Amino acid sequence: MAKLPDHVGIDFGTHSVKAVELSRISSANPLLVNLGSQLTPKGVINSEDKSDQRKLADVLKKLYDSSRIKNKNVVMALPEFSVFTRFLEFPGVKAEELKDAVYFEAKQYIPMPLNEVQLSYVPIGFNTEKNAPRVLVVAAPRKVIDIYINIAVLSSLDLIAIETESVAMGRAMYKSSGKKDLIMLDFGANSTDMSILSDGYLVFSQSIAIGSDSLTQAVINKFNFEYQRAEEFKRNYGLVENVLEGKIYSVLSPIVESIMVEVRRGVEFYKNRTLSVAPTDYMLNGDGALLPGLKEYVSKSLGVNATMSMPWNNIAVDNKFKDIIAKSGPSYSVAIGLAMKDE
Ligand SMILES: Nc1ncnc2c1ncn2[C@@H]1O[C@H](COP(=O)(O)OP(=O)(O)OP(=O)(O)O)[C@@H](O)[C@H]1O
Ligand SMILES: [Mg+2]
Repeated sequence: MAKLPDHVGIDFGTHSVKAVELSRISSANPLLVNLGSQLTPKGVINSEDKSDQRKLADVLKKLYDSSRIKNKNVVMALPEFSVFTRFLEFPGVKAEELKDAVYFEAKQYIPMPLNEVQLSYVPIGFNTEKNAPRVLVVAAPRKVIDIYINIAVLSSLDLIAIETESVAMGRAMYKSSGKKDLIMLDFGANSTDMSILSDGYLVFSQSIAIGSDSLTQAVINKFNFEYQRAEEFKRNYGLVENVLEGKIYSVLSPIVESIMVEVRRGVEFYKNRTLSVAPTDYMLNGDGALLPGLKEYVSKSLGVNATMSMPWNNIAVDNKFKDIIAKSGPSYSVAIGLAMKDE
């Protein structure tokens, strides 16, 4: 049985805020009750300024009204770039000693004073060779958590849980694909987040500070286009090599390649740390993943099997939502994962 009641998952992005409400969340076949998205005003995400938080509360109100969402229970995600995660192993440490050991070790790894972060850890199995429990340590700055609590209060919503974007996405990917080992890439406006699921557990995440807006900006800079025109060229031609004499491709590909460099680095770091093989299945998420030719580019550049995520698999969807879902396949993954959180 679910410990959390049915609720709305809310994903705050720098480009848009997305909401998904599901029911029968613990079943194999949850039902989509409602969904929607609204554009995010510039510069308000993660802002400690009360008036910015009020703007986000207004966005939520619009989202609730326009999508006719009624459920006041919400689960929100902390943007990946604001949290710190680290996979650690504790050779010889007994279960009852683990908590103290995590706090002691965390001090060395977390780049902020411990009294300014909320520290949590998720047990992720056991390394039998080293006789070591394994955990993922997550540190979220208290002031970032407070921002989301404030937004919920300003919106008169009941914030029943908070988690990180990658944890939510991992849940959505596992439930929709059945795969326990994969690498998730979330192509957002401002950043590209990368995370690794191993044996069904989230074991690594990092935020790369280059997003799809950089692609639009590069087209503006190169061709002196207005924003709207540049955005259209990006969305229409993307990384397809043989259109417009490859002119768009040659502007966009170096930027996407610089993201790939960071992804490769992340994978190497993960392999060195855990001494395990990295998954070779890659799933693309976020609106930025809709870039034509991206899937092929990632597959070729990294030598892996990259596919578009299908987060709506195994969710029962009424015909009235089919159009939105067909248009925005991989963009609701985080909101879906948040809506599925059942404990
Ligand atoms: N069809 C498309 N083809 C290519 N890019 C697209 C398409 N639709 C949207 N984008 C781009 O996707 C980005 C927005 O993605 P998304 O909504 O996932 O970001 P976000 O979650 O709000 O941002 P972030 O995760 O960085 O905070 C924008 O840069 C936008 O230009
Ligand atoms: Mg996002």
